[in-house]
Amino acid sequence: MTERFTITTPIYYPNDRLHIGHAYTTVAADAIARFHRLRGEDVFFVTGTDEHGQKIEDRASKVGKTPLAYVDEIVADIRDLWQVLGISHDDFIRTTESRHERVVQEVFRRLEAKGDLYLSQYEGWYCTPCESFWVEGKLVDGNCPTCGGPVARLNEESYFFRLSRYAEPLLAYIESHPDFIQPVSRRNEMIQFIRQGLEDLSVSRTSFRWGIPLPQDPRHIAYVWVDALTNYITACGYLQDPERFSRYWPADVHLVGKEIVRFHAVIWPALLLSLDLPLPKVVYGHGWLLLGEQKMSKSRGNVIDPRKLVQRYGRDAVRYYLLREVPFGADGSYTEDALILRTNVDLANDLGNLLSRTTAMIERFTGGIIPQPGASSLRGQAEETVRRVEERLARLQVSDAVAAVFELVKRANKFIEEEAPWQLHRSGDARLSDVLYDLAESLRITAVLLKPFLLDAPDAIFRQLGLGSAEGATFAAAAWGGLPAGTKVQRGEPIFPRIETEREAEAAAGEAVAAAKAPKVEKAAPAPAAEEPGVITIDEFQRLDLRVGTILEASRVKGADRLLQLKVDLGEQEPRTVVSGIAEYYQPEALAGTQIVLVANLQPAKIRGVVSHGMILAGKTSETLQIVAPREGLPAGTKIK
Ligand code: MSP
Repeated sequence: MTERFTITTPIYYPNDRLHIGHAYTTVAADAIARFHRLRGEDVFFVTGTDEHGQKIEDRASKVGKTPLAYVDEIVADIRDLWQVLGISHDDFIRTTESRHERVVQEVFRRLEAKGDLYLSQYEGWYCTPCESFWVEGKLVDGNCPTCGGPVARLNEESYFFRLSRYAEPLLAYIESHPDFIQPVSRRNEMIQFIRQGLEDLSVSRTSFRWGIPLPQDPRHIAYVWVDALTNYITACGYLQDPERFSRYWPADVHLVGKEIVRFHAVIWPALLLSLDLPLPKVVYGHGWLLLGEQKMSKSRGNVIDPRKLVQRYGRDAVRYYLLREVPFGADGSYTEDALILRTNVDLANDLGNLLSRTTAMIERFTGGIIPQPGASSLRGQAEETVRRVEERLARLQVSDAVAAVFELVKRANKFIEEEAPWQLHRSGDARLSDVLYDLAESLRITAVLLKPFLLDAPDAIFRQLGLGSAEGATFAAAAWGGLPAGTKVQRGEPIFPRIETEREAEAAAGEAVAAAKAPKVEKAAPAPAAEEPGVITIDEFQRLDLRVGTILEASRVKGADRLLQLKVDLGEQEPRTVVSGIAEYYQPEALAGTQIVLVANLQPAKIRGVVSHGMILAGKTSETLQIVAPREGLPAGTKIK
């Protein structure tokens, strides 16, 4: 029988637009879901929105809308955001749907039938943003212990759930199921919390109307957390579709932020015990994305919009950053610089270069044809990588799993340096085909292993290797040797053009010195291997491919005073596009026919939306700038030595 796998995200409050903190959870859950699908499992991945409660009622009335009209708009925006990020959920549940209302009401009936529901008087403190009740002793300086915000005194009639009854069974369960709450630090916190004793929980409100009325007493509205947590069983088909429910429940993983572990690891399992339903297998509380020292949050107003980042850097770069940057489980600070650095170093430099170098060498040395495999040097590491990715993802160590893939990429790049295939070619060494096959096969396996994390790169890698789309490739395709010899590679554009920072864009081309000073770039560049600092070896100089080119046409780059876009004839089939920072010194109309010297093997970079393939050389003083050119003119493409 096919294994099945159910994973959930928290259902988000549609009281405002979501930020990258929310995207963080959802992208991580998406990666885990995709991994299980890749293994051929029957996956049910659910996300959604938590639409009831006083806060939403208040917000809607402030803008003169009904609560439903208010949330409808935000929910549409949230669905769109998940599309932008390529989220592959199988269900999107809204707590305002009738399928859910029915379940919540039936849950209240069953709690009562079990003797776990009683009417009493509630006295305590309530935090509206967190939708949480607190007893006096739990407040910190009189404020909410979760968000630090003000709390309001409440004294009213309420139904209570006999949570206290479940402290012992819960402890026993947690102790006999070491994987139930993860990571282990959160498990320990929860054990401490329950050991202090659990008080019965107020589970209904009469102070607002926007919610699900209790069937036994419609003056009372279900407490939002009972309403919200129940979404997980509604989505799996509880009380509606027994077959589906027994297939997808219990959930394998509830992925949540650490601040709501308590709800998922105490209240939710207690409710499930009362309902005689099986408990979820894992509640995983990941850390927070911080902005500076603080948690990014809508109420603080310090949020980053994931859509803007996707527009600027692409969905793969944003997903990669979210999945890779912060060790999963821990907190980490978000910075845009770190996102750019990750993209430039890991994606553009390591992965992108491996692909372009490998396909270029196959084109040059074996006529574009993948050679026969022979003795392999990378197979061991590739197989180890497959094992690591599998093992780490099974333990929800998402960032470590991504890192494992990039270890293989790094190893393959190093292998190129060690083996110097161009020398094997020159000396007619038969090992050349083993080396090229190793590289291409490692790339193919990398593409398969990246499928849970990145959405466009695996396809692009497959295409350039001549394998068509990566869509049908399952995890089994990551086995070594799947790449057929004789395939014709199809070199294409760089899969991740380097991102230029504003500063670099200004320094672009012609001002190589300034560009080299930009700190982020230096980290990405390989360290010089010469003995003396500042001195390079002749080999290092020879890595520069300097060529004579002839400018065919020049035009201004929109919105950038200093930049010109050039079409340069380099004696290649197609002219090259080069962006150069010379607009203050040369009129574009005057440049056609001018010769230049181009750094032709510079990693392509996107500057103000234009991909530049090389950098022209120029000398600059405080007064002027002059393009460097051969004195008497040379054919386009001539190599400068
Ligand atoms: N509606 C409740 C959850 C009910 S689940 C039955 C809720 N919603 S929320 O909109 O506030 O989303 C909270 C979740 O968003 C967090 O648990 C976490 O998964 C994610 N994050 C929100 N801000 C975050 C960060 N700054 N960093 C990481 N994750 C964050 O709570």
